[in-house]
Parts: sequence; C-alpha cells; structure tokens
Amino acid sequence: MDKDLENLKKQALSAVQAARSVAQLDELENKWFGRAHGELTQLMKGLKDLSPEERKTAGEELNHLKVALSEAVAEKRGVLEGSAWAVAAETERVDITQPALPKKSVGHLHPNTLVQRDLEDLFTSMGFMVLDGPELESDYYNFTALNIPENHPARDMQDTFYVKGHKNWVMRTHTSPMQVRAMQKFGAPLRLVVPGKCFRNEATDVRHEHTFYQLEGLVVDTHITLSHLKGVLEAVARHLYGPATKVRVRPKFYPFVEPGINGEVTCFLCSGKGCRVCKCSGWLEIFGAGLVHPHVLKEGGIDPAQYQGFAFGLGVTRLVMLKYGIDDIRLLESGDMSFLEQF
Ligand code: PHE
Repeated sequence: MDKDLENLKKQALSAVQAARSVAQLDELENKWFGRAHGELTQLMKGLKDLSPEERKTAGEELNHLKVALSEAVAEKRGVLEGSAWAVAAETERVDITQPALPKKSVGHLHPNTLVQRDLEDLFTSMGFMVLDGPELESDYYNFTALNIPENHPARDMQDTFYVKGHKNWVMRTHTSPMQVRAMQKFGAPLRLVVPGKCFRNEATDVRHEHTFYQLEGLVVDTHITLSHLKGVLEAVARHLYGPATKVRVRPKFYPFVEPGINGEVTCFLCSGKGCRVCKCSGWLEIFGAGLVHPHVLKEGGIDPAQYQGFAFGLGVTRLVMLKYGIDDIRLLESGDMSFLEQF
C-alpha cells in the first residue's frame, strides 16, 4: 500500500480507538467521508486523473481503507452505545427484592422548642422582634432595675440561685430583666419578645421545677393603654386555643408594672364549664402582665411623661403542659427518652 495511505490508516484507526463518544465518531466519519471535503472522498475524486493501471491498484487500496475504517467506526459505535445502555441499566435499576432500608433516625425538637417557635412566628407576624438574654443575670437587671430594691419582700416571690461568692450574679428568675436591657439598648418605641430559660429555687413537685421557660413581651410607645395589652393577649390566646377563647384579667401585684394583672384564658378542654385540666374553675392562668412602671421606664432611659408601655410574661412551660396534656413538669427537663420520643 502507498506510504501515505498506510499512515492515514494508522492515524485514523487510533483516532477511532481514542473516541470517547458517539458524537466524536460522527465527527471522524465526516472528516474522512464527508461529501465535499472528506479526506478519502478527495482521494477518490483524484483517481480520475491517474492512468488506467494506476487507477486500478489505487482504487482497490482506497476501497480497502474505506471498508477498514467503516468497520472500525461501526465496531466502536457499538461499544460506546452499549456502555451507555449498561450505565443507564445499572443506575436506574430498581431491585424489587431488596428489603426495606432501616429508617434513618434524625431526632426532633423538644416540645418546649415547638411551642416557643410557634409563638415567635406569631409575634414576628405582629411586628415584634425576638431577642435573647443572658441566663446568668446581674442582680441589678433581675431585681433592682425592675423596681425590686434589695431587702424588698417581693424578692421572696422569686427565690433564686445566687452564684457562690458573687452575690451580684443570679440565675435569672424570669425573662423580665430583658425589659430594661432592651430599653437601654434600643430606646423607644419598642416592640419585642424574649423567649428563654428561667430558674427558681423551688421545692420541686408535679407543678414546680427549678428550670422552666417564659416568653417576655414588651411594647413601648406613645398612648399605650391596658386595652392594647389585652388585645395582644387575646390574639395570643386565640392563636393557641382557637377563635372562641376568652381572656380574663384580674389585678395582681408585680413591682415592675402599675397596674399589674394576672391573665387567664377559658379552658380549651371544657370551654369554661369546668374540668380536670382547669381544676373545675373554667379558666387557665397563663400570664402575668401590666403597664410598665414609670420607675422601670426611667431606669431604661425612657421618659415616662412621653412614653408608656405594657409588658407580659407568658408561662411557656405551662403552655406546653396544657397543649400536650403533660401532668408532671419534671418530665420536661428529665432527658427521659421514652417521654421525649412521643413528640
Ligand atoms: N416576670 C413575671 C413573673 O415571672 C411576669 C410578668 C412579666 C409580670 C411582665 C408582669 C409583666 O412572674
């Protein structure tokens, strides 16, 4: 065979071997056999210029080459297409005999967190910001700034854990310390909630625990009245227990509000008729609240002549117990898996 043809054949065959896709093969075929510019097509066209003898041998050689290349391409095409099918068959295979895979256990949220997040969603929808506060709090923010001076009997209502050797630091007994912290930081007007953990030195039983959760609310603005407070608390009660829920408020003393109130909602179980959940009273106590005391506004750097405010503290732990029918508060912090896995 002619030297040039021999070279062309070698190169062509190795190009076929190197091809990685059907599209590459198509390109090679076009390069050699393309009607207008294909390399072999050109050579075939050149045959007419040769003498009859030369044309015969050259024609035969070209024909052999053409057949050899066509066969090589066809064979490679089969391989490439075959492997594409094989890959698809493997990846898309469904083995209907395979036993079910064990379900991955991914854990879940604590019931406290579920209720807290639900409330955060409700309050953000009403334009409140959500803040976090320190659990280890200064005596100043936990008591003094809230109009509870040292030696005031009101401190006994919230007996706390002091840090040994640091009498000025306490585990916060409520989320209210964030009222003055927020006023000092952001000024007026203000609209915020603070969910979080609180601690009290309790003799524990089914209704009392040393660690529990509250959600504090604070609104400071001009022309704030008790009806704004009641409106917000009604929205919360209806969100939690349905549109027919009523709110009842009665006076209660807290040093940091004036007037102070104690809030109850109609029992979601008996709708106020009286049952086991509400201890036959028809009402459930779920928050303490009131209009922010002028001393507290001043402590927060806000002028009580210009601004008023209301504040409330929702007992989140109590809401959780009511929502899920939990009859012993101690279960919530116990870490008992058989209890937690129910949520
Ligand atoms: N901090 C009070 C408590 O823990 C509740 C409360 C909050 C009352 C805000 C009035 C205003 O009992």
